[in-house]
Amino acid sequence: MPTSELNAIAASIVADDRGILAADESTGTITKRFDAIEVESTEPNRRAYRDLLFTTEGMEEVIGGVILFDETIRQHADDGTPFPALLAAKGVVPGIKVDLGAHPLAGAPGETITDGLDGLRKRLAEYYELGARFAKWRATLSVGERLPSRYCVRVNAQALARYAALCQEAGIVPIVEPEVLMDTDHSIDDCYHATARTLQALFSELGAQRVDLEGILLKPNMVIPGKGNPDQATPERIAAATLHCLRRHVPASVPGIVFLSGGQSEVEATVNLDAINRLGGRPWPLSFSYGRALQGSALKAWWGEASGVTAAQGAFLHRARCNAAAAGGRYDANVEGGA
Ligand code: 13P
Repeated sequence: MPTSELNAIAASIVADDRGILAADESTGTITKRFDAIEVESTEPNRRAYRDLLFTTEGMEEVIGGVILFDETIRQHADDGTPFPALLAAKGVVPGIKVDLGAHPLAGAPGETITDGLDGLRKRLAEYYELGARFAKWRATLSVGERLPSRYCVRVNAQALARYAALCQEAGIVPIVEPEVLMDTDHSIDDCYHATARTLQALFSELGAQRVDLEGILLKPNMVIPGKGNPDQATPERIAAATLHCLRRHVPASVPGIVFLSGGQSEVEATVNLDAINRLGGRPWPLSFSYGRALQGSALKAWWGEASGVTAAQGAFLHRARCNAAAAGGRYDANVEGGA
């Protein structure tokens, strides 16, 4: 597909400060989220939950794309409309998670490689038929004593680039997601260096494998201290470190950067995105592709009950609007009082 078409899809997803709802939790992950609210993870319950998110009125003003899971892209809304068609009719681009998860990397204790390249060309063709116009592949990198290893960084960059090249061949915009995890006690400087090394290797591989940078979206972590580090950073410090790292390593031709939330609280993820967008010197739109940080309150308001649907939709819309405001650098924390 010519670049301009992929570029137009990517640009439309992040236009007008819109972002992405990552609703692509695998069955295992959504089961963990449901366990936390004591809802049984059955296929009808998973469908009902995704239905409430996707039918939220007004979400299309602030959400430009939704990432679906293999089960979800085949499901239908209450009125019988396939989910991808429902989203597309609202002007929201349907996307699909195509990786098969991060698994132990042979010879590298504590590190992972993401599976899913085998048969990917065929799966992408089917997802295109089902309506997907963008895809997601997530690599995970842990920070620690001599981690991430050069080996882990390299093989994950190679896999991300192979995936991205196959997506573009299929007319699908690849979201390229190299996630430096925040679940240890590393410092913000450790995160900076791990993120910098990861992005450098990634863009080198994307170039080597002839991926058109104008037809991708990058989904990185913010540069942030590990959760267990007592020296937590202010949003201003996170913003400055994140933007510095991205400006050094991400070409200006990339049409958009959409952060993952990675375990930040809902409000933290909004405040930090806002702080980044209050800084000048950004060649790309900087928006969000949040999973947990868009859905935490909504899940709790829903509680698996039809009577909770309206409150859950309100909670989801509130967070999505806050994050769109943050993508424009105009989030006002006072709005949280009415949440
Ligand atoms: P979180 O925002 O919950 O990190 O999820 C985003 C995502 O899609 C991870 O792959």
